[in-house]
Amino acid sequence: MKNEDIEFDEFCDPDNPRKIKYDDILAASRRIMGTIIRTPCTRAHMSEKLGMELFLKHEFLQITGCFKERGVRNTLMLLNDEQKKYGVIAATTGNHGCAVSYHSTSMGVPSIVVMHTFSPITKINRCERFGAKLMLHGTDMAMAKHYAMTIAKEKKMTYINGFDHPNVIEGQGTVGIEIMEQVSGIDAVIVPCGGGSLLCGIAIVCKHLKPDIEIYGVETDKTASMVEALRKNERVHFNIEASIADGLGVNKVGVNTFYNLKQGLVDKMVVVSEDWVARAIMHIVEEEKFVVEGAGAVCVAAIMAGLFPNLKGKRVVAIASGGNIDTTTLARALERGMAAEGRLVKFKVTVCDRPGGMAEMCGLLANLGVTLRDCVPERAWIKGDVFSVELKVIVETRGWDHTKEMVETIKKNYKECYFQEMSEKSDKTAGTRRGPCLAPNPVCMQK
Ligand SMILES: Cc1ncc(COP(=O)(O)O)c(C=O)c1O
Repeated sequence: MKNEDIEFDEFCDPDNPRKIKYDDILAASRRIMGTIIRTPCTRAHMSEKLGMELFLKHEFLQITGCFKERGVRNTLMLLNDEQKKYGVIAATTGNHGCAVSYHSTSMGVPSIVVMHTFSPITKINRCERFGAKLMLHGTDMAMAKHYAMTIAKEKKMTYINGFDHPNVIEGQGTVGIEIMEQVSGIDAVIVPCGGGSLLCGIAIVCKHLKPDIEIYGVETDKTASMVEALRKNERVHFNIEASIADGLGVNKVGVNTFYNLKQGLVDKMVVVSEDWVARAIMHIVEEEKFVVEGAGAVCVAAIMAGLFPNLKGKRVVAIASGGNIDTTTLARALERGMAAEGRLVKFKVTVCDRPGGMAEMCGLLANLGVTLRDCVPERAWIKGDVFSVELKVIVETRGWDHTKEMVETIKKNYKECYFQEMSEKSDKTAGTRRGPCLAPNPVCMQK
C-alpha cells in the first residue's frame, strides 16, 4: 500500500472537511452523560486580582485528568458492533491515549495505543495501566502515527484522531454546553488550543447559544500552529520545540478544526510566552489550590500577561483543561514562577573568611525574615585577599519589596556583591498592558 493510502483518514480528509453542527454536539452531550464527569465551573479566587469575574472549568477532574475523555467516549459510543469488535487504535504521547485506554476498556472495546520510544515513561505507564495494548514505535509522533495507521488498515481497527475526528470535536464541544448551563451572562470564553478540537467544539456551542459571546484561543510561543495556520490561511507545518504546555504541541492543526474555526468562530487567537505559563501554574496552585498542567494553565497565563485588557470587569470563563503534570516539571514550574516574581533570588557576596564571617551574613538575612535556600562557598578562583570567601547564595523572599530591602541591606554591608538581573517591570498583571489585542487583526502575539 502507498504511504498516502496508509495515511488517508476518511474522517479527516482535506478534500472533504466536515462542518461540525451544534445539534450533533448537543446529541453527544446526552450520549456521554453519566460516563464522564460533569466538572464544576466555579468563580476563581484570582478574580479580584485579575480585574474580572473569572470562572474556571475544572476539566482536570476527569478520571484520566483531562477533557479528552469526552471526545473519545462519544466516538466509541457511535461505533457499530463490527467496529467495536475489531477495536480502536490511536497514536499519542499524552492525554488522548489515556482517554482511549480508559474508555475502551470500560466499554469492552479492544484498543491499541502507539507511542514513540521517547515518550515520557510516566505517560507510557499510565496508558498501559488503563488497559490498552501499548506499542512503542519510532522516535517521533509522525512515525508512531504512520505505524498506527498501518496497523489500523491491516487489522480493520478504527483510527481515532485525537483532535480532528468529527465525533471527537463534538464530544469536546460538550464542555461548552456545560459552561453555558453553569455560568450566567458570560461575556467571553478563553480556550487552550492544540489541534483545535476543544476550541472548535466550544466555539460552535457558545456562538450558537449566545452569538455576542467572545471566544478566544490561546497557544504558547512554542506551540503556535493554529496562529500560523490562520495567518497563512493554510495548515502549515509548525516546528514544535519542547514546551511546558506539551498537550498543545501539534505540528499541523486539524483539517476539520481549521475548516470550522476559520469561518469566524473565534474572535482572536493569542500567543503567550512560556514564562507566563510557569507563573500561572504557580498562582493556580497557591491561590486556587489545585494543580494543572501547562496546557491547562495557558488561559490564566494569557490573562496574567495582560493579553486581554478588553475583558476588564467582564464575566469570563477559562478552561483548566488538564492536570497531568510530572512532579519534576511541576517543581521546575514553581521555581521558575518564584524567580520571575522576585521571590527566589540569586546573588554572590564576598565575606570575611574568618570564624563568624558567614554567620554574620546569614544573620542579616535572618533579621529580614529572608529564607536561605542554598549557600556555596568559593575560595580558589576569587581575587582579593586570601581571608575572603565568595558565597553563591539563593534565598526566598516574600516578593519585590522584600527583595529590594534585602538587596539594599547586603549592598550596605558588603563592598563586593553581585545580584542577578531582576526586572519588576515584567511582573505586571492583567490590564496594565495595552497591546495589539484590541486590534481588528484576528491574531495577537505577545511582545
Ligand atoms: C490538557 C490539554 N489541554 C488542551 C489541549 C488542546 O486540545 P486540542 O488538541 O483539542 O486543541 C490538550 C490536547 O491534548 C490537552 O491535553
